[in-house]
Amino acid sequence: MKEPEQDITLLEMFHEQSGQYLSGEEISRRLSISRSAVWKQINKLRAAGYEFEALPRLGYRLVDQPDKLQPQYLLDGMKSRTFGQVIHVMNTTTSTQEDARRLAEEGADGGTLVIAEEQTSGRGRMGRKFHSPRGKGIWMSLILKPKQPLHLTQQLTLLTGVAVCRAIMTCCNVKTDIKWPNDILYQGKKVCGILLESATEDERVRYCIAGIGISANLKETDFPENIRSVATSVRLAGGQTVDRTILIQTIMAEMEQLYELYNEQGLAPIAALWEALSGTVGREVEVRTSRDVTSGIATGLNHDGALLVRHPDGEVIPVYSGDIILGS
Ligand code: BTN
Repeated sequence: MKEPEQDITLLEMFHEQSGQYLSGEEISRRLSISRSAVWKQINKLRAAGYEFEALPRLGYRLVDQPDKLQPQYLLDGMKSRTFGQVIHVMNTTTSTQEDARRLAEEGADGGTLVIAEEQTSGRGRMGRKFHSPRGKGIWMSLILKPKQPLHLTQQLTLLTGVAVCRAIMTCCNVKTDIKWPNDILYQGKKVCGILLESATEDERVRYCIAGIGISANLKETDFPENIRSVATSVRLAGGQTVDRTILIQTIMAEMEQLYELYNEQGLAPIAALWEALSGTVGREVEVRTSRDVTSGIATGLNHDGALLVRHPDGEVIPVYSGDIILGS
């Protein structure tokens, strides 16, 4: 007899089946639970809005799923030990960054996650607005309590980018790349932005908030006209509706693993993963900082996580903040 599969959830099994039938017997064997427990789990999912067709000899087929994030299902399939083990799901909020900040001030632990169906004042880097329509994306903020000094906290942006990229590949089979420092792109169009904010006291980092905004299931018309040429969604890229629950769970697992690696070994292994996923290294870039605009070839990251840019005169300059425009 085969061993039960570790960690797989009922929903993941139905997703693997892509709309085909799964027999009660197979589910019971793979999850190592009784047939009546299978039936109970299916009914629990039905109560949460998942629709199943059931046929006597074939079993169950997932025909539709709710597009509403349910805290209980998020928690049930969470594979991380601490990240995302305490979650707050908001229907509408101004910005999950604000909610996470309030929770952190009230003493919430590192790993606490705030997710919203909709943000009315979602924000991006450099004071920009971030479009976050209802039910279409993953708008979430994770509280982190790093031990590193303030000038290194931006490294967590790189770590978060790697986690999101890997999770999108695993869950949606969509290959994205990272544009320094914080954009995840699919064929040059943005699918995700990351915003890292920190609270300090006398040079000590009290907490950081990693804000992640993924355009998961937006249609083209869901984007404001002025960003349609530069933005896309994971669903438009992959041709399939994204299960936001599974993607959130996978991001939490990836982030936790990478965070542990980072705490044990520092930036080097994260930087290597980042460079492998980067769509910036090796390209000509225009660097726009608050002081000036320069250009050169991006050659990689330095030990702090700054982007190294080789200028036409051969000098290599680390870029710690700013925007880049990708050239050829
Ligand atoms: C950027 O692209 O400049 C960063 C965008 C970050 C957006 C996320 S959505 C969840 C969290 N809440 C916010 O208001 N912003 C971040």
